Amino acid sequence: WPLHAPYVKAINDLKRERGAVILAHNYQSTEIYNCVADIVGDSLQLAREAARVEARVIVQCGVHFMAETAKLLNPDKTVLIPDREAGCSLAESITAADIRLLRQRYPGVPVVAYVNTSAEVKAEVDICCTSSNAVQVVESLGAPRVIFLPDRYLAANVAAQTKVEIIAWHGACEVHERFTAEDIGALREIHEGVRIIAHPECPPDVVAASDFAGSTAHMIDWVKRERPRRVVLVTECSMAGNVEAEVPDVEFVRPCHFCPHMQRITLPKIHACLRDLTGEVTVDPDIALRARRAVERMVALGA
Ligand code: 13P
Ligand code: SF4
Repeated sequence: WPLHAPYVKAINDLKRERGAVILAHNYQSTEIYNCVADIVGDSLQLAREAARVEARVIVQCGVHFMAETAKLLNPDKTVLIPDREAGCSLAESITAADIRLLRQRYPGVPVVAYVNTSAEVKAEVDICCTSSNAVQVVESLGAPRVIFLPDRYLAANVAAQTKVEIIAWHGACEVHERFTAEDIGALREIHEGVRIIAHPECPPDVVAASDFAGSTAHMIDWVKRERPRRVVLVTECSMAGNVEAEVPDVEFVRPCHFCPHMQRITLPKIHACLRDLTGEVTVDPDIALRARRAVERMVALGA
C-alpha cells in the first residue's frame, strides 16, 4: 500500500505522542485493520477491550455506537471517532421513547438491546448483547418472554435457538438485509464445494441456507479452524480482505456489500482526528450512568 505509507507512519507517530490506542472493528479497511489498529475485533471484543484500555485517548475506528460504548466504559478518557457521521441503520431504527412505550405495552417484560443502539436507548434497557452472546444474554434473564431489539432478523435467529419467547422490533441492518436465500442457492450452484457462512443480522432463511452463522469474530475463527478450500463470508465486504492474509490456502468468493458507515473511516480522517483531537464523543452523564449499567451487565456475564 505505497499510497498509505505516509499516513501509516504519521498515525503511528501521533499515537505514541498522544498516548492513544486505536480500536478497529473487523469491517474496517485492510490498511486500517493491518497497519494502524492496536486492537481489532467484533463488537463484544471491542467493548471488553475498551473496558481494559489504559491509554488516555481511544480512537474508535468503527461506527458511532461503538465509540459511545467505549466512552460509557471509560468516562474519564478521551474517546475520538474519525467521522461522527458513521452511523448504523439499526441504531437509527429505535429511540428511547420507543422503549418507554414498549415497557408500557409489555409491563414487567425485560428488555435486551443489541449494542447497535444509541446510549439513550441503552439507558432504558435491562441489558445489552452482541451477536456473539445474544442467546446467552436472553437466557440469563430467566424470564419466559423477553423484548429483543432493534434487529428483527437477529431476533428471529435468536428465537430459533431458545425456548424464551422473543418480542421483536422492526429494525434491520441495511447491509445484511440485502442477502437472500436465492443468492446462497446461486452461489452453491456456481462455485462447486463452496462453504457459506453468514452473520446473524441476515434474514433467517439466509442463515438456514448457510453452513454456519456467527458474529464477525466467530466467522473469522470458523475460517481459521475449518480451512475451507473456498468460502463466502455473507457479511460486509472488507472482512474477507482482512482475514485473507492469515489463511492463504483459502479462496474467498466475494459477492458482498460494503457498509457505507464503516467505510467513512479512512487513514486521512484518523490522522486528522489524532493530530487535532477532533471527533470527541461525549454522553450526557445521567444517560451514561444508566447506559453503562446495561453494557457492564453484559460484560460481567462473560458470555
Ligand atoms: P459483530 O459484533 O458481529 O462484529 O457485528 C457488528 C456489526 O455491526 C455487524 O453488522
Ligand atoms: Fe450497522 Fe449494518 Fe453497518 Fe453493522 S453493517 S454498522 S449493523 S449498518
